[in-house]
Amino acid sequence: MAQDNSLMDAIVSLCKRRGFAFQSSEIYGGLRGLWDYGPLGVELKRNIKEAWWRDMITTHDELEQPQGAPSAFQMVGIESSIIMHPRVWKTSGHYDLFHDSMVDCRESKKRYRYDHVKGRWVTYEGNKIFITIAGDEDDLQDALNVRALQYFGLKAKYADKLEWEGEISDLPTVKDHSQVVGPDTKELGTLTEPREFNLMFETYIGAMRDEDNKAFLRPETAQGMFVNFKNIIDSNRVKVPFGIAQQGKSFRNEITPRNFTFRSREFEQMEMEFFCHPDDSFKWYTYWRDRRFKWYTDLGIDASKLILRDHEKDELSHYSVGTADVEYAFPFCEEGEFGELEGVAHRGDFDLRSHMEGKLVREGDELVVEKDEEGNPRYPGSGKDLTFYNDETKERFVPHVIEPAAGADRTVLAFICNAYNEETVTNEKGKEETRIVMKFHPRIAPYKVGVFPLLKNKPELVAKAREVCNLLRPYMAVFYDEGGAIGRRYRRQDEAGTPYGVTIDFDTLGEKDTADKDTVTLRDRDTMEQTRMPISELLAFLLEKIR
Ligand code: GAP
Repeated sequence: MAQDNSLMDAIVSLCKRRGFAFQSSEIYGGLRGLWDYGPLGVELKRNIKEAWWRDMITTHDELEQPQGAPSAFQMVGIESSIIMHPRVWKTSGHYDLFHDSMVDCRESKKRYRYDHVKGRWVTYEGNKIFITIAGDEDDLQDALNVRALQYFGLKAKYADKLEWEGEISDLPTVKDHSQVVGPDTKELGTLTEPREFNLMFETYIGAMRDEDNKAFLRPETAQGMFVNFKNIIDSNRVKVPFGIAQQGKSFRNEITPRNFTFRSREFEQMEMEFFCHPDDSFKWYTYWRDRRFKWYTDLGIDASKLILRDHEKDELSHYSVGTADVEYAFPFCEEGEFGELEGVAHRGDFDLRSHMEGKLVREGDELVVEKDEEGNPRYPGSGKDLTFYNDETKERFVPHVIEPAAGADRTVLAFICNAYNEETVTNEKGKEETRIVMKFHPRIAPYKVGVFPLLKNKPELVAKAREVCNLLRPYMAVFYDEGGAIGRRYRRQDEAGTPYGVTIDFDTLGEKDTADKDTVTLRDRDTMEQTRMPISELLAFLLEKIR
C-alpha cells in the first residue's frame, strides 16, 4: 500500500470527532507525543487488551499442551511498578544504551534526531551548501527547494538556477558540518556534533532532588517480569517452560513522536517473557513468532497488510539471537514499508544473567560482565540465584527467554486503520452518500449492539427498547440511542464500529400482526442487511458473534 496521508488525516479526524482519541491537554495547546482515549477509544483498547490477556494467559494457563506448542506450559500474569530500583536500568543496559543520537542547532536552539535530518547538496552561483529539513514532508525535494531558495534569498521563479547534486541523504553521510544549513536556520555550520540523549524520563524519589534519589519511569514493562522471576517460581510453583506477562504503561522521551499515537512518549505495552530450556529455545521462538502473527489476523487484521519480518543480523540487539517483527502497512508508511506492532525476540539468558551477575557486554561471541577500572562489575547484579532447578532431570540452568513484546496503542491504531472504510451508498431519499464504517471484529468493537426505539415520543417503543437494553447489558456493551431519524442513528453506530443494530418498531409491539410481536429488526453493520429476530433469540445470537 502506498503512503496515503489523506486517508490518515480522515482517520485522525474521525478519531477526534467520534471520541476515539484526543491530543493530551488539548485546551492548553496539547502536548506532543501524548494522547487521551475518549469513550470509544477506551472501550476498544480494553477489548484489545482483554483479547490479548485471554490469548496469552487465561486460555493458556493449562497443563494440556496448547496446539502447536513444543510441550505443555503455564502462563501467569503480574502487574509491576512503573518506578523500579535504578539498578534495574543500569544492569539491564538501558542506563547506558537506551538513547538516540541528537544534534542541536546553536542558532535556533532546536534539537533533532541525528538520522532524521535529511538534506541534499545544492549550489547557487558557485556557493555550495548541504541544505536540510527535519520533517515528515510528503515531498522532500519540494521542501528542500523552499529551504534553498530561502537560504539564498531567491524568489520561487529562480528555482531552476539551483544546481542539485547527489541524492537526498541523512546528515550522518556528511562528515563536515561547516557546510550544513540546519533545518530551522539560515546560518551555515550551526549544528553541533551528535550527542547521545537517553530516552528514559527521570524523576526523584523522596524530598531530595539529588543523584542518589534519581529514578526512572520504566521504558519497558519487561524488567518487571525478570526481577520477579524468583518470586513467581517460589510463590506459584511454576516449572520451566512457563511465561510471565503483563500489560502496563511505559515511557520514552521520544525525540520525534509522530504518526498520531504510533510513536508516543507515554504508551502501553503488552509483554510476555517466556522462560524455557536453552535446548528448546528455538522451537519456542518459532512457536511464539507464528502464534503472535496469527493473533492479529484472527481478530480481523487484513493479512495482506501484515508481515512477519525477521531482523537482519546487524539489526539485532546486542543480547538477541533472533528477532522477528510483526509489522502493519499503516497509511502513513511509504510504499512497501511497514510499521512495527510487535517484536518477538529470542533474548537468550541475557536478562536473568544480567540481574544475577551484572551488566553484560558482548566480547566476540560471549556476553561477559562489564568491569570498571578496578576490575569489579561496573553495574553489579542482584547476586540472587536466578537459575532453575529441574528436579526430574536434576539439572540446574539459566532459562532462555522468548519475548513477544507488543504495543497496545500501536495495536489499537492498526485496528482503527484496518477497520476504516468509506463506502458509497444510497440513502433513504435515493441519494448517493458516503458511509464511513468502522469494520471492527465484533470481539473488539467498543459497543457490540445499538438499541433504538423507532420513535422517541412513543412511550411503548421506548419502554420496550429499554427492556431489550436491560436484557443485553449484563453481557455486553450496549449503546442506546433514541435521537434522530433511524438512518442517522445507524450511520452514527457505523462510525463507532458497532456490529449490530436492534430497532424496536411497531411490529415489536404486535400492533399490525401478532406474529411479529416481540421480534426486532436486526441490522448488520457490514452488509446493512436487516432481518427480523425474536427478542428471545437475540442474546444467544449476539453472544455467539462476540465470543
Ligand atoms: N521489551 C522489549 C521492548 O520494549 P520494543 O520493540 O522497544 O521492545 C515493544 O517495544 C513494542 O512497544 C513495540 O513493538 C511497539 O509496539 C511498542 N512501542 C515501543 N515504543 C513505542 C512508542 N514510542 N510509542 C508507542 N508504542 C511503542
